Amino acid sequence: MKAIYLIRIIAMGISLFLYSCTSAPENNAKNHTIIPLPVSISTHSGIYHLKSPVTISIPDALQPIGNLFSNYTAQLGFKTKLKNKNADISFSLNPSIILPDEGYILTINSTGVKLEAQTEAGLFYGMQTLLQLIATNGKNLPCLEITDFPRFAYRGLHLDVGRHFFPPDFIKRYIDLMARFKFNRFHWHLTEDQGWRIEIKKYPKLQEVAAWRDSTIVGHAGNSNKYDGKRYGGFYTQDEIRDIVQYAAERYITIVPEIEMPGHSRAALAAYPNLGCTGGPYTVATTWGVFDDVYCAGKDETFIFLQDVLDEVMNLFPGTYIHIGGDECPKTRWKQCRLCQQRIKKEKLKDEHELQSYFIQRIEKYLNSKGRRIIGWDEILEGGLAPNATVMSWRGEEGGIAAAKQQHQVIMTPGNWCYLDHYQASAETEPLAIGGFTPVEEVYSYEPLPDSLTETEKKFILGAQGNVWTEYMKTPEHVEYMVYPRALALAEVVWSPKEKKNYDDFLNRLQQLRPLLDRLKVNYARHVFQQPTDK
Ligand code: ACM
Ligand code: ZN
Repeated sequence: MKAIYLIRIIAMGISLFLYSCTSAPENNAKNHTIIPLPVSISTHSGIYHLKSPVTISIPDALQPIGNLFSNYTAQLGFKTKLKNKNADISFSLNPSIILPDEGYILTINSTGVKLEAQTEAGLFYGMQTLLQLIATNGKNLPCLEITDFPRFAYRGLHLDVGRHFFPPDFIKRYIDLMARFKFNRFHWHLTEDQGWRIEIKKYPKLQEVAAWRDSTIVGHAGNSNKYDGKRYGGFYTQDEIRDIVQYAAERYITIVPEIEMPGHSRAALAAYPNLGCTGGPYTVATTWGVFDDVYCAGKDETFIFLQDVLDEVMNLFPGTYIHIGGDECPKTRWKQCRLCQQRIKKEKLKDEHELQSYFIQRIEKYLNSKGRRIIGWDEILEGGLAPNATVMSWRGEEGGIAAAKQQHQVIMTPGNWCYLDHYQASAETEPLAIGGFTPVEEVYSYEPLPDSLTETEKKFILGAQGNVWTEYMKTPEHVEYMVYPRALALAEVVWSPKEKKNYDDFLNRLQQLRPLLDRLKVNYARHVFQQPTDK
């Protein structure tokens, strides 16, 4: 009897072994919910059971990724331990894997989990995919093979810290959440009319004066004249910024700092009134909008100040791109200013639009001479593009289309689809927002490559970005409410193959990833879950 049982058990074992990880059609396996959707998933029957503690093997040089993995799995309730041989999960760089940059291959079979990539960033993204599988499956991982790489090189989220200031810990959390969904650029909007948020050692009044406003409008700026009378502000010290830059780099996120010019500069002018056309006095703005007082383009001291500021910015941020703003700059003061008019004459410029173009080109030349490149909002097209500028298209896609046709690089952030400060549901049911209406489905439907471009011109579109202007977002919780889950829809726009996109399937995966968002205590908006069929 015993021998027969033994033979049966062995036979069962063999058939189980043969059965585990055989090919099966997609969607027929355990949960392989992943956002953004990978390029290719082939699922197999069977599971791999992670042991306790989960063992990992990883080359010494990749220890930072291993440490992050341990931290992430600890958040999911699992301990990890290093083990050189026969580990549950092996991480390795493999130069023979020919995939686009940031690509990876994740294989789960009966012998374990193998994560391979040509680049560290690829391994990092493979790790994020694996973490999502662990979050939804626990220790019983489905056998599968995933081959994955991003559709676009620039996958961005932006945050305005000028209108409201968010502490360094929240900036880190914002960055960490981005990295989990494979975003790789954080556009940090650091200066505004209502507050200057980056410490510049050479100009202490930026900290003492420009970082603080006396009061803030209550309600919507379009229909309120009530103010709260409370002093408000703050700034990031250079040490805090260095720490955040490092934190982002560990997550393969490059920070694109934005120093606004020539407009949205009231806070700087309040600190250094000599930089404006009238000489002031100026105050840090207490309401939202576009203001006439901007940097004087006729004074050389304006450029000396901005170059000094940019020197310190370049010391803090190692990325190639510096965003110099360029949007919403009224020409009212320049038209009246003797020095601005003298500059127009001397430089043989046609009008104030060309003066703005002169301003941006002069700054571009400076930054290019230091090995950096500028990004500007699409107004930098007016009066002539700076020779090497990248255009961020926000007033629709037209600016991006025009720039691509001029063979300039483009990042798409058109308001209709990419402004995460818009309402995401009926305004009556929502906290106060600036306006607009951009529900999750609309973000999901965005296609960054316009039909009107040729295939060659499309190559200038680097990717897309979600913008988060914070006039009406006072707290980190409110920022998360506006950003999630819309940022997840955008993550799929910029990462996943266009032909694989499917909104219902996305909603399904989003629903299954809720336990992960809940575990991370993300304050995401619930509309799409409450009314999944109400589109
Ligand atoms: C912008 O939204 N003013 C770029
Ligand atoms: Zn002037």
